[in-house]
Amino acid sequence: MELKQVIGNRRSMRFLRNYAPVEREKIQKMLEAARLASHWGNVQALRAVVIERASAPEEVIKALPVGTAIAGFQFRSAPVVIVWYIDWTALPKQGDRLHELVDAGAMGVNREKTHKYLDETLIPFFDGAMDQIKVSGINELDAGQAIAQATLVAFDEGLGTCCLGLPSDRKLRRALKLPPDTKIVLLQTVGYPAEDARAGGQRPRIPFDEAFKLNTADNPFPRDPAVVEELRAAGMIQAAGRLPYRDAELRWLQEQYGLSEVFGDPEEIGNIMTEMMEAMQEEQAAAEQKQAANK
Ligand SMILES: Cc1cc2nc3c(=O)[nH]c(=O)nc-3n(C[C@H](O)[C@H](O)[C@H](O)COP(=O)(O)O)c2cc1C
Repeated sequence: MELKQVIGNRRSMRFLRNYAPVEREKIQKMLEAARLASHWGNVQALRAVVIERASAPEEVIKALPVGTAIAGFQFRSAPVVIVWYIDWTALPKQGDRLHELVDAGAMGVNREKTHKYLDETLIPFFDGAMDQIKVSGINELDAGQAIAQATLVAFDEGLGTCCLGLPSDRKLRRALKLPPDTKIVLLQTVGYPAEDARAGGQRPRIPFDEAFKLNTADNPFPRDPAVVEELRAAGMIQAAGRLPYRDAELRWLQEQYGLSEVFGDPEEIGNIMTEMMEAMQEEQAAAEQKQAANK
């Protein structure tokens, strides 16, 4: 498939076929794509644990959060869940990564001088700013870029995925044996879609000129209708949902997955939301306590 078509067809697929295993090679291709993504200073702090329903220990499957927002049924139906996380211990090794960049021909004409500049100026600067870098969001941005690349590969391979937030991670961290100095950023379900490839059509987006400007923030970037037409013809820009039979499709999916009329409503997930709020508050309090003890 052409890249433009892949982008056009990419949609959050919440309904996957839990009986259809995903070939390991396809998951590997997603991970290979993530590995090649850009990272600030080439730090590469992104890690992932692939949970394969068919082979994972029971305690790992049980640790998947069954009730996040509308995500409970999504975990139940996914043959694979990728847990993307940041390894903070990668950050202090940033100097090594920068020196590698010099040797790879990515920085500076004079190799020797560039190594020296790194050691004397750039690396001490980054080392001094590491605490701020950690909270700046830039590592999460790296993760987002890598996950986006993996997602496009998944669609190119005929798979569907959905990104899911994780408000409370203690149970999952324990089951996955994640090292302490790490942060889970996102869970991503992967499988063969049970819904139509168009999943009801393109989801709503805010107008192009509301989001994108030229030269100054008050000047909309001119949107050329000919380019829009070209992208439409290439399959990137597609008809907005909901498509004519989406309601019938949703009713069918509701029946197949045993969901209530509002996916994820209290009828379906009971008091899980309350339990999750409590767990979040507990985790927050524990983090604050730890911070205070470290001061
Ligand atoms: C970082 C991130 C977190 C998300 N978390 C959730 C989630 O917890 N539950 C969910 O159902 N969808 C989640 N989504 C999917 C979005 O709701 C979805 O991308 C959005 O509705 C637009 O639909 P589209 O992806 O089909 O274009 C998440 C997406 C991203 C990028």
